[in-house]
Amino acid sequence: MAEDHPQHELAIRVGSLHKSYRLGDRRVDALNGMDLEITEPGFYAVMGASGSGKSTLLHLLAGLDKADRGTLEVLGIRVDELPEHELTRYRRHTVGVMFQRFNLLPTLTAYENVVLPGVLDKRPPAELRERGMGLLEEMGLADRSRHRPDALSGGEQQRVAIARALFFAPQILFADEPTGNLDTLSSERLWSTMEDLADKRNMIVLMVTHEAEAASRCRKVFLVKDGCSAGVIDAEDLEPSELAARATAITRST
Ligand SMILES: Nc1ncnc2c1ncn2[C@@H]1O[C@H](COP(=O)(O)OP(=O)(O)OP(=O)(O)O)[C@@H](O)[C@H]1O
Ligand SMILES: [Mg+2]
Repeated sequence: MAEDHPQHELAIRVGSLHKSYRLGDRRVDALNGMDLEITEPGFYAVMGASGSGKSTLLHLLAGLDKADRGTLEVLGIRVDELPEHELTRYRRHTVGVMFQRFNLLPTLTAYENVVLPGVLDKRPPAELRERGMGLLEEMGLADRSRHRPDALSGGEQQRVAIARALFFAPQILFADEPTGNLDTLSSERLWSTMEDLADKRNMIVLMVTHEAEAASRCRKVFLVKDGCSAGVIDAEDLEPSELAARATAITRST
């Protein structure tokens, strides 16, 4: 099953986005006029110091939280203007999301985790089966379908999380430090998987990362500082060390 996608531009546009959190009587400005634009499929990275607003940006893009002001446009949809019931559909169907940890429900098997979005959407069993097993196979996990998360390696768990995020064949995947808890080999495999999704499925894959190794595989790297855009690096053909040096230089100078 592939979800029917209405005609729209495969693009993400973020304009002057503001988001504050209140902690007691303190206000934290997590996003302070953030801008970002992606208009072609590909693998993209967001980098910036801890606390600079990267996760906040991804949460807002994924429809998990509401911005205070500014515009958020994804696939032609003004996410900032969606009413609550449409936001739920957007979160579940239009985009895929994965995080550093706690992606899977511990009591469900790998297969049950992958098909959960379809179960919640009351899809027929035959479709769940075909889609679930197809995705597990695509992620190289067909023989792990009955394993619960605690019987899977960290890398396997994250590939189950990707499979689940792809259940409704979204054209956009947001990933917040997906390899933050993985060893080098598992990380590299996950980055390759995300690169492949961008190439073969023509998706926009937007990943928050602290690792220059990961970012150097991306088409562009969006630098974030103090809740604002600090610059964009064309990362294609850059070595990780060169990318890290440029990112540091740009972030320092802004
Ligand atoms: N729910 C919340 N309540 C209060 N403050 C928050 C909340 N979430 C984030 N913040 C604050 O907003 C700022 C941005 O946080 P965010 O999580 O977006 O940073 P980040 O760039 O993802 O950092 P890291 O690299 O450490 O994950 C930080 O100062 C953080 O403490
Ligand atoms: Mg974060």
